Amino acid sequence: MRILGIETSCDETAAAVVEDGRRILSRSVVTQIEIHKLYGGVVPEIASRMHTESLAAVCEKALKDAGIGFGEIDGAAVTYAPGLIGAVLTGVCFAKGLAYSLGVPLIPVHHIKGHISVLYTAYPELEPPFLALCASGGHTSVVAVKGYTDFELLGRTRDDAAGESFDKVARVLGLSYPGGPAVDALAKDGDELAYKIPIVEFEDAPFDFSFSGVKTFVINLANTAKQKGEEIRAADLAASFDFTVARTLGEKLFAAARATGMKKIAAVGGVSANERLRRYLTEGAARKGLELYLPPKELSGDNGVMPAAQGYFEYVAGNVAGLELNGYATMNLKEERI
Ligand code: KG4
Ligand code: ZN
Repeated sequence: MRILGIETSCDETAAAVVEDGRRILSRSVVTQIEIHKLYGGVVPEIASRMHTESLAAVCEKALKDAGIGFGEIDGAAVTYAPGLIGAVLTGVCFAKGLAYSLGVPLIPVHHIKGHISVLYTAYPELEPPFLALCASGGHTSVVAVKGYTDFELLGRTRDDAAGESFDKVARVLGLSYPGGPAVDALAKDGDELAYKIPIVEFEDAPFDFSFSGVKTFVINLANTAKQKGEEIRAADLAASFDFTVARTLGEKLFAAARATGMKKIAAVGGVSANERLRRYLTEGAARKGLELYLPPKELSGDNGVMPAAQGYFEYVAGNVAGLELNGYATMNLKEERI
């Protein structure tokens, strides 16, 4: 079954054709980063307008690269939540038009489930159950993937998402949007132990995260140094922050593996491209005898494979939408609006 996936929940207009949830036939993307960079972050209204301009071309290219025509897709899957609502709706409306005109099923896909499903294309042998750390610009959670469409939230951020803290720290360090890759690059040659940054723990919720304090600590440190006319060692501060986030994310994932007895662990979402996090997880998993699954870096961030791959498993489970489908800015993993 060939599914065309459409993803427009943030600043990438992306589409892909995936066969049976596992085999990527093509993927196509128009990124808006250069425009949003001018404003230091994503401007939702601009994102929606640019998706509207790019969607048809991006979908046409995905089909052309897959060597098929519109008439040869078996389903139109689309990220329908969560995300910037105007941006999400552009993709939802486009997918509806396609499903309606082609007479194929319209398949709504939850963005985080899409991030997780990319792993099935990278690892043909991977099957649930496994544990997934989902870390992006809007979400940070530890999820038990019990089945292809059966998820249990074990822990989540109480405040900022991990990616959001990267973006804000980057701004203070004078780096451009998106902050994650910029901090990652600057942190490469820094001393990760140079600055001691406290980690927040919750006694009653061992798998919950907090990144607001970490972010504020780094921002205060940089601002205080500036006021005193002192030099901050930007690479060292970036490395120390990077290390704190990697350790926080990694240790929660390892703790969840211990608590659940699950041996297969994964990390997905934009932040899973982070070098230090990948190293921390790889070394920790080897020491603990855990099997680690990481997406190829180019599929860590938002992409069209996400709805195309998860769309297949949703279709198999009977999760198909009618043409009254709406998009939602927020939605939990049980697909309840929150
Ligand atoms: O999954 P994603 O592409 O979009 C959302 O669903 O939000 O994640 C984007 C986030 C941004 O905050 C970005 O700064 C962060 O992922 N990110 C990174 C890296 N690459 C992207 N964070 C840390 N290190 C990276 N290499
Ligand atoms: Zn994402």
